[in-house]
Amino acid sequence: MQPWTLIGVLTLLIAVPDALAVKSNDFKTCSQAGFCRRGRALSARALEAKSAWKSPYSVDVPSISITPDKAVFTAGVKSSLYPDIKFGLELRVHDDGVVRVRMDEVNGLRKRYNEAASWALISEPQISQDITWTAGKKDIRAKYGNNEVVVAFQPLKVSLFRGGKEQIVLNGQGLLHMEHFRTKAPAVTKTEAATPEEEEGVMEGSEDAQVVVEVNPRAWFEGDKEDDWWEERFSTWTDTKPKGPESLSIDISFPSHGTIYGIPQHATRLALPTTSGESPTFTDPYRLYNADVFEYLASSPMSLYGSIPVLHAHSADSTVGIFHAVGSETWIDVSHPSAKSTQTHWISESGILDVFLMPGPTPADIFAQYSRLTGTPALPPHWSLGYHQCRWNYISSDDVRTVQKRFDEEDMPVDVFWLDIEYAEEHKYFMWDQKSFPDPVDMTNDVAAVGRKMVVIIDPHLKRTSSYPAYQEASDRKVLVKPPSGEGEYEGWCWSGSSSWIDFFNPDSWDWWKSLFKTTESKSGWTWTSSTTDIHIWNDMNEPSVFNGPEISMPRDNVHYGGWEHRDIHNINGMLFSNLTSQAVQHRTDPPTRPFVLTRSFYAGSQRFGAMWTGDNLGTWEHMAAGIQMVLANGIAGMSFAGSDVGGFFGNPEPEMLVRWYQVGIFNPFLRAHAHIDTKRREPFLLEQPYKGIVKDLLRLRYTMLPVWYTAFRETSVTGVPVLRPHYVMFPKDPKGFDVDDQYFIGASGLLVKPITTKGATETTVYLAEDEVYYDYFSHHAYRGAAKGKEITVQAELHEVPLFVRGGSIVPTRERPRRSSPLMKRDPFTLRVALSKAGGARGELYLDDGESYAHQAGQFVWRGFSAEVGKKTVRVASRDLGAERKGEAVDGVALASYNPKNAFAETVGEVRVEKVVVLGLGGKPSSVTVEGGGELVWEYTAGVAASGKGEGVASVLTIKDPKVLVVKDWAIVIQL
Ligand code: GLC
Repeated sequence: MQPWTLIGVLTLLIAVPDALAVKSNDFKTCSQAGFCRRGRALSARALEAKSAWKSPYSVDVPSISITPDKAVFTAGVKSSLYPDIKFGLELRVHDDGVVRVRMDEVNGLRKRYNEAASWALISEPQISQDITWTAGKKDIRAKYGNNEVVVAFQPLKVSLFRGGKEQIVLNGQGLLHMEHFRTKAPAVTKTEAATPEEEEGVMEGSEDAQVVVEVNPRAWFEGDKEDDWWEERFSTWTDTKPKGPESLSIDISFPSHGTIYGIPQHATRLALPTTSGESPTFTDPYRLYNADVFEYLASSPMSLYGSIPVLHAHSADSTVGIFHAVGSETWIDVSHPSAKSTQTHWISESGILDVFLMPGPTPADIFAQYSRLTGTPALPPHWSLGYHQCRWNYISSDDVRTVQKRFDEEDMPVDVFWLDIEYAEEHKYFMWDQKSFPDPVDMTNDVAAVGRKMVVIIDPHLKRTSSYPAYQEASDRKVLVKPPSGEGEYEGWCWSGSSSWIDFFNPDSWDWWKSLFKTTESKSGWTWTSSTTDIHIWNDMNEPSVFNGPEISMPRDNVHYGGWEHRDIHNINGMLFSNLTSQAVQHRTDPPTRPFVLTRSFYAGSQRFGAMWTGDNLGTWEHMAAGIQMVLANGIAGMSFAGSDVGGFFGNPEPEMLVRWYQVGIFNPFLRAHAHIDTKRREPFLLEQPYKGIVKDLLRLRYTMLPVWYTAFRETSVTGVPVLRPHYVMFPKDPKGFDVDDQYFIGASGLLVKPITTKGATETTVYLAEDEVYYDYFSHHAYRGAAKGKEITVQAELHEVPLFVRGGSIVPTRERPRRSSPLMKRDPFTLRVALSKAGGARGELYLDDGESYAHQAGQFVWRGFSAEVGKKTVRVASRDLGAERKGEAVDGVALASYNPKNAFAETVGEVRVEKVVVLGLGGKPSSVTVEGGGELVWEYTAGVAASGKGEGVASVLTIKDPKVLVVKDWAIVIQL
């Protein structure tokens, strides 16, 4: 099929709103995936057998060995069902308390894929030096600090305890099953298999079950059929499965935790609904299999574009987490045996068991533990936090220029214009369509003249034609993915027609791919000389999406570098593409510049390479709301730099919906409007009033808050605590907040936002989790929370977005409207000081050049603001956090080199604080001075005091141009 035919099909569906529904038939349910069916059947048998169910896996006690440094435990594991098959268990305790549990088949017929962790982890974790092992008859225990890991021998069970309480249990339900490699044998004979009567015996009760165990333990445990072991069909495709069955099933229980979060990406509530047990919300398990799901459902456990096998289990007492480094398709069942406990069952198609148990005990600890494993989000270029204007497609360079002109005429800020696939001749990425884009460098320079950038799409499918250097060079270098035969080049269909895909698992592809992005000529091969370093990159379709492949992706029996099958690495594949592309963009300049790469597909560790978005959402209210939940879920799994398409990709949103969508978008870390090729143009300047004015104000609001966003990203890049913080992260002990996923905080700024996602809304409720004052950002109305949580009702007319400042926060903003964010570099700051009920407030501001890596060598400004309330004075002060916290790291590099007089700080040496607004003072000041200086100009409006109990408009003190510099220490003294 030609790509335009496909576009035609999409058009047809778009034109008919009733046809807006996921094509479920394109994707497997668990019962259509052999290994998932087998895994679920195993758990069903366990459930029926009740206490008679026994895991056949046990530790081979004589084989236990502990390294002399006491840090690594290894042991053989046997399955009573297959005495000749050997498994190896390894357990390591890391120095931060994380426990890594690995199990693999030893000396098997083949090798299981064991490299998933090597792509996800940033380095080999440090091993703890402080462990005491105690071996008993039934188990062996490693004690370290307040934690203890217990490996029970028979059956094998691994538990993590803290303070004597069991937190995480592996194989507690006996669902561990590592299907060993075997040779294809004739079908199971009658004498070996359980008869139907015997099977019934298992169902009926434990005594009978015992009988059957003796008769036929294999069938009792594994089932009596070779269910899709050697070949599997789905729709018109056949998966040849040359390695046979090799799936991995493991139950992971959280006996003390009743709420779980994570395992993105799914369109679902943040607190994950159940998929098994009594009346589950979803009937299929959560699926992790990166897929291009056309018109996905707004509430479903179906797979989407990215997969991060990380889970938080939470209670008011503590949080624990797990990360399972598996790269193959994985299904996860979730149930709650009680309100206070959770069971999960993980079923993967291939790979080894490689589970990291993260002991917490707070959400912040989990973020630190997970970041130490997989890294923190890269500190993005500052401009990429501005507004991105995209559509499929801006059709010519003049179109781009006109759109830019219209933004400027309307005084609407925007930082980036995007080009989708139609810029590329025959969808041969890098190659400009000469007719429509005759002058790409001039076009980019016109955009860059006001500090703006362009982002251009580079998809992974390469059109198979010798006239396309990217394809031809890849073919010559033999770095393309191979078909199941292992010979030649796999061919499939995507936008560019007949295409092949680079195998980024092949190291030979790496330097070559990076070289393509060079903007200067090279003797050794093709380079992108018709581009400039103001062009950054969008990586789409990297699940990979293959239009004529099974489940719109690659056949699982395709072959990658090292002979691994596509099934082994499917979920990691997209990450390698954005990893290499981000390195390519980074190294176009010397010294390197921070890259911006947007990816649709992702895996654990993708946070190191750039931003993601939630793919092809629909222009519906449900999708608008789901987008918030998905961005929160991606954030807690590391992908903080996330957003959903503003406006909805499919459909033509009415003005009200578009306005609300901008309200959602400006509070997403990644803010991009995008639209399908068949939608009507909907750039914000096309709106009628009052909608146009509202959106302009919203975009300007986003730009005023860039200091907040950038400061939040600095913190994330160091600690891994997400930029968007849901309630359970902010108030881990408050059970009423565990399910809250429609409002959240931005970094540590104290800003709380609840975007409106319902049609016709004029008001909404907001949950306040604590006994603190919260100020409406715009009206300064002071609301009071309560110790046990409280809902308040606030106005939310179309022009209003519920946004609050938590008492105790100081929020830095830049309030001068500009066309793009680089033009704000020397603009003055406003500080909003929101006094807490107890008095006082704190805040932070981080600045650097926003583009280079000079910040890693100490070139930045990092200020701490505070307000201290005394008996007769309030002192608002600024100090040098950079100097105070010199030892910390930004983007992985220690900052010992920080010097307050660094070259970047000099460039903003004259930047002032032009306004300080103090909310909630107890009364009118008698004087306001700069310490060591004279009286300032100020205004006071009486109102509610933070220290009282009253609600209503807060008192507001506005100090005008105190003439203090942002890089200097200063204090403003307010005499009461
Ligand atoms: C995919 C992307 C979408 C893009 C389109 C054309 O559907 O998800 O954002 O516009 O491809 O490249």
